[in-house]
Parts: sequence; C-alpha cells; structure tokens
Amino acid sequence: MRPAPSQDAPSAPCHVAIIMDGNGRWAKARGLPRVAGHRSGADAVRRAIIACRELGVRYLTLYAFSSENWKRPQDEVDDLMGLLRHYLRRELAELHKNNIRVRVIGDRSRLAPDIQGLIGQAEQTTAGNDALTLVIAVNYGSHAEIVAAARRIAREVKEGRLDPAAIDERLFSAHLQTVGIPDPDLLIRTSGELRLSNFLLWQAAYSELVFIDTLWPDFDKKHLLEAISEYQRRERRYGASSG
Ligand code: FPP
Repeated sequence: MRPAPSQDAPSAPCHVAIIMDGNGRWAKARGLPRVAGHRSGADAVRRAIIACRELGVRYLTLYAFSSENWKRPQDEVDDLMGLLRHYLRRELAELHKNNIRVRVIGDRSRLAPDIQGLIGQAEQTTAGNDALTLVIAVNYGSHAEIVAAARRIAREVKEGRLDPAAIDERLFSAHLQTVGIPDPDLLIRTSGELRLSNFLLWQAAYSELVFIDTLWPDFDKKHLLEAISEYQRRERRYGASSG
C-alpha cells in the first residue's frame, strides 16, 4: 500500500525494483556469446545487492527471468537457469551471513525441481533476516500474477469465504505474490529501453521510473546513486495537487 505523501525532505527509497536489461548487447559489443553477458550480469547483481544494503534500501526486486523469456533459444534459457541455480547454491551462505532475506516471485512450477528446491531452501534459511529483502522475479509476469489473484479471490467468493463487497485495493494486493512487500518507490530499467515489460504493473502504479542507458553488466553503485538522486529530486504526490 502506498504511504501518505510526506512534507519532509526526500529520503532513500525503501524499495528499489530493477529491470536488468542489456546483457546481450554488452556481450555482442565485445564479440562474446550472450551467456558471457548474463554471467557479467550476475556480477552486477552482487554489486547491486551490496550497494543497496550499504545505502539502507530495505527491499530490492530484480527481474531475472520473465514469463516471456521461455521464447528465447533453448541454450540461452538453459544458461539463464544454470546461472540462477549456480547463484542460489553459491550465494545463499553469503546472503544469509549479511542478514539478507530471499523471496522469489513468479510461477516456479515450471522451473526444474532442483531449482524449486533451492528457492525453497533459500527462502526458509533466510526467513528471519531483515537487513534487506532480495526479491528475485523468476518466470514472472504481471498479467499472470494479477489473473491468478483474481482467480483466488473468485474461488473464495464462490466458496462463501469472501463477501464481494469486501474486495478492495488492499485485499487485492494481499492476493498478489508481493504480499507483505511495500510497493516499489523507485523502478530502474537499464540499457535505454523505455518499457515496463510486464513487470510489477500493479505495484508500480506510483513508482518513480528511472531509465538509464548503461547496460546491466556495467551497472554499479555510482549508477544506483544517480538513480536515487533522480528519485530524490522528484516530488512524489500520489495524485495530490502540488499545493
Ligand atoms: C536482459 O538482458 C537480462 C535477462 C533476460 C536476464 C537477467 C539475468 C541476469 C542478470 C543473471 C542472473 C540473475 C540472477 C538473479 C542470478 P537481455 O539478454 O535481454 O539483453 P539485450 O536486450 O541486450 O539482448
């Protein structure tokens, strides 16, 4: 749910969401296979997590694999899944040591069983951590998430457990996979593309959008600070007048 408009000086965003784009172009510019771009993208993920933790960001959501990404060539899909598997195996101890909670959104039923197991293990191990919540969107698509929420609500109504009059924005939000996570304050997309690509469409209703030209594998703390400065320069009114 969105907070009340504040008259105070702008503060660091509580929740930063990132569409990590440009891995393929980064690799192509260097004459490398696309997987090399994704590997460097995974290094940028580590940098982004450290930077967010240092800056006091409480939630970081990363779009790692969209529900449309299955349309990519099978070997690239395999590479991306391999990177995710590797990341969950190798980084869990470090994330836990740094008091970082891991949550995964998206339809995990289509993922390989071992990856589903690693996700469950990461979520369970880190459930009590509270320095930063890392939300990884895997096989995620906003339309599918909203449709699934509508279906669950409809079922509750049909079974007599929910009065249709009780359906409001708060209840709907509570049926999304992001339940318990505040809406993103700042949404960043790298690589110069100006689209949301089916990412957090409900949750980003009032997010500040910052598009930067940098390709994701080159993203570092400096870019995050620039995006946060841009966010802080903007006046967030949540539909209210400028007064
Ligand atoms: C978009 O670049 C990026 C992706 C589809 C995948 C993002 C994945 C990672 C950064 C690595 C693994 C992530 C984790 C959390 C371990 P693109 O391939 O569409 O680039 P292009 O538009 O230049 O072709």
